[in-house]
Amino acid sequence: MASSAIQELIQDVDNQLNGSITIVVLGASGDLAKKKTFPSLFGLYRNGFLPKETRIIGYARTKMDRDEFVKRTTEHMKLGESPDAKKKLDEFLKLTSYHNGQYNEDASWEDLARYVEKIEGDTKQKNRLFYVALPPSVFLDVASGVRKHVYSDGFVNRIVIEKPFGKDLESSRELGTNIAKLFKEDEIYRIDHYLGKEMVKNLMTLRFANVLFGQIWDSKNIDNVQITFKEPFGTEGRGGYFDEFGIIRDVMQNHLLQVLSLVAMERPTGTDAESIRDEKVKVLRCIEPIKLENALLGQYVGNGEKPGYKEDDSLKNKNTNCPTFAALVAYIHNERWEGVPFIMKAGKALNEPKVEIRIQFRNVSGDLFKDTPRNELVLRIQPSEAVYMKFNNKHPGLSYQTLQSDLDLTYHRRYSDLKIPDAYEALILDVLRGDHSNFVRDDELDAAWKIFTPILHEIEQKQVQPKEYKYGSRGPADLDDFVRKFGYDRS
Ligand code: NDP
Ligand code: BG6
Repeated sequence: MASSAIQELIQDVDNQLNGSITIVVLGASGDLAKKKTFPSLFGLYRNGFLPKETRIIGYARTKMDRDEFVKRTTEHMKLGESPDAKKKLDEFLKLTSYHNGQYNEDASWEDLARYVEKIEGDTKQKNRLFYVALPPSVFLDVASGVRKHVYSDGFVNRIVIEKPFGKDLESSRELGTNIAKLFKEDEIYRIDHYLGKEMVKNLMTLRFANVLFGQIWDSKNIDNVQITFKEPFGTEGRGGYFDEFGIIRDVMQNHLLQVLSLVAMERPTGTDAESIRDEKVKVLRCIEPIKLENALLGQYVGNGEKPGYKEDDSLKNKNTNCPTFAALVAYIHNERWEGVPFIMKAGKALNEPKVEIRIQFRNVSGDLFKDTPRNELVLRIQPSEAVYMKFNNKHPGLSYQTLQSDLDLTYHRRYSDLKIPDAYEALILDVLRGDHSNFVRDDELDAAWKIFTPILHEIEQKQVQPKEYKYGSRGPADLDDFVRKFGYDRS
């Protein structure tokens, strides 16, 4: 990144926080904290984005001494080759400490408040950021304990909440109403880490900074859109959590729908958070609830080497109908998208890791060339970020045959010195800068749940049985027929 752009970001953080912040990571003993939160904070520190006076306090119930805390928080940090990485890490660790206590006792929160005051010492600017890296069952207890006892009156307070935000429209509204009693909307950052991914952030630029895409981005030119999420591993050890939520709540109602709204929204009036989120909400409100007849559900079974979903030891209900795979089709009823299927596909224990957006254009008119394949624009979100366009070219040489080829912008080939920060690093920086653009607003969440709640309830009430697919396969056998039915032409 150009050094002027970096300076601007650092300046933004400073303007917001006057050079001082205390970051309290609640749930510091957990998986997210160790894999993402602490490594991202370190990434921000080593790149100079944390304010001069930063203090980082881990909080959870687990009792841990300093060595154990350091071991856990550094386990997933990538130091790389840089000779001063170790020195930077030592400096970073000096900013950190750990305190243990309960989530539902006033005495623990009072104790944490005293501890925070002690660590802050005679700092004049007592700005505080609370990162809730905890299961949803304790979100409310924690938010109210923090608000009552650890909130810093007269200074900046921000609370970051992780998904899942509820389990359906009703529970999400209830959670939202209760949190709104404690924090103002502009203090709340509902994180969806897909909004921090490079290619997802690129969607706005690609669509609105290129006259060429602006002209063809509609139902006249686009036949269907596929948003695909594939993971090559199962729920191993996470079955307890997963079985309560399933793949639709785990990644589709949030990550994939966020991507969809950025693909489909109208041009915002500005790049500020409210203008972008206004457009996202508008397009979400044009989507009718997804119908069961437009869904294909799957659950993985063992393949001889790897166990099936039901064999996961952490699973209590062995008769579960929880989908670990789903393909769902959404329709947007507005002038731009009427009739275009948006096919969202997501699955665990599939054949490869891949997240991509595939926009398939309509057939060319006439029959000048025989069986011309359709153009496709693909944005690969991960692994290996890329934008490529499948287009048709004359076979070079004497032949007049048509040949499908690619206009390929694969990032690691095109950009030397490519260093894409982790999504969490980008998003925590946004929180420090007070920028909500890449966070979910309350009405956006409401609109998202309206799309998914009816089908989720129907699956539960009717005990719809998912189709089996083998661990490591492409998904249920009917998948190709399913996407073909909605217009996808795999030529
Ligand atoms: P964990 O299961 O690791 O829990 C985090 C911490 O919460 C634990 O270390 C434990 O701390 C405490 N805890 C666990 N279960 C309970 C319980 N039943 N009651 C009270 N406290 C409990 O969760 P993750 O770190 O995986 O996830 C945290 C949040 O982040 C969740 O909302 C999750 O959906 C979200 N998330 C996680 C991702 C990941 O990669 N892990 C990715 C995206 C989102 P202690 O006992 O020490 O208090
Ligand atoms: C999380 C889901 O939100 O996203 C996980 O709970 C999933 O089940 C993860 O594995 C995927 O994130 P990423 O960044 O690895 O694609």
